Amino acid sequence: MSVLDSPPLYKQLDPSGMLGHLHRFPEECRRAWDNSMRLGLPSEYASVNKVVISGMGGSAIGGEFIRRLAVLDNSVPVAVHRDYGLPPFVDRDTLLIFSSYSGNTEETISCFTESLSTPARKLAITTGGKLKELAQQEGFPVLAIDYASPPRAAFPHSFVSLLGIFNALGLIRDKTADSQETLQVLGSIAGQAGQGVPLASNPAKQLATQLHGRVTVVYGAGLLTEVAQRWKTQINENSKAWAFHEALPELNHNAVVGYQFPPEVGAGAVVVLLHSPLLHQRVSLRYHLTQELLARQAVKHRMVEATGRSALAQMLGMVLLGDYVSLYLAMLNGVDPTGVPQIDYLKSRLSQS
Ligand code: PA5
Repeated sequence: MSVLDSPPLYKQLDPSGMLGHLHRFPEECRRAWDNSMRLGLPSEYASVNKVVISGMGGSAIGGEFIRRLAVLDNSVPVAVHRDYGLPPFVDRDTLLIFSSYSGNTEETISCFTESLSTPARKLAITTGGKLKELAQQEGFPVLAIDYASPPRAAFPHSFVSLLGIFNALGLIRDKTADSQETLQVLGSIAGQAGQGVPLASNPAKQLATQLHGRVTVVYGAGLLTEVAQRWKTQINENSKAWAFHEALPELNHNAVVGYQFPPEVGAGAVVVLLHSPLLHQRVSLRYHLTQELLARQAVKHRMVEATGRSALAQMLGMVLLGDYVSLYLAMLNGVDPTGVPQIDYLKSRLSQS
């Protein structure tokens, strides 16, 4: 029997319950959507012509997803600002959203402080901290995240809150029907990849087993570009493992040349290609040709196909699948998926100076 099919392992290695957050993922998406519908923003927020989302790490990735959906809908331009300070183009026609789970991330607070001298429309998404306090002082709307978890496990809240806000303001095409479909896809992924499903029929446990002991490189394209990034960061933080991500078609113009050296890197890597039937036909062809090049260099690789009709369902379904893979990989690595001591160390050292 695989260790992944042994319930005591999860009790021992996952005392803070990261697995429980994955089980609740579909339900938390539903709650976050309802929560964002209750927010009620000033009507002038709907007349902006661009959006900037300020955030870092687990609080920034939701911004990347909404940026992608806005591109697919050919709607408002969205920039994700993962840095100190403020992009120079922020003006009164900008909706500036500060996203920080803790509300204490210094890059995001720096952006907030600099933004006070601009006439941009502002909004905070947070559980509390300095961000909530300052936003309330300044009289900006705050969407309060009501979910206790590590920031990355609150992705249903950080992303779906943005989705609900964009939807309510008419900044993307109406996503009500796609949200319903997404919940069905998430339910089906949870049914296939949950901890109770044995390795023999569980695609997430099988993939984690293939990644174990190797460096993971995740490839994505179009609507799955940011999903590949999410897989990478979840493998870093949950599994405590090396992982990288790249985007097609760009990687066909450089990365494919570098499979050769050093040979031990190629021999110890696995490339996971996240594919969607919604991708451009030529990009799909590139996936197959890239697999040929990987095979020629004897680099292990696996294609993972997105399910669902809409882009939203495919993106979130693939996120949940990747989250399960990273959790199972943590179990195989014998580590607690929740703690991120290196991030805590950096934040504490920075706060001292
Ligand atoms: O996953 C994490 O814990 C980090 O990537 C955090 O999200 C990041 O450090 C930013 O913190 P916060 O989400 O509290 O703003």
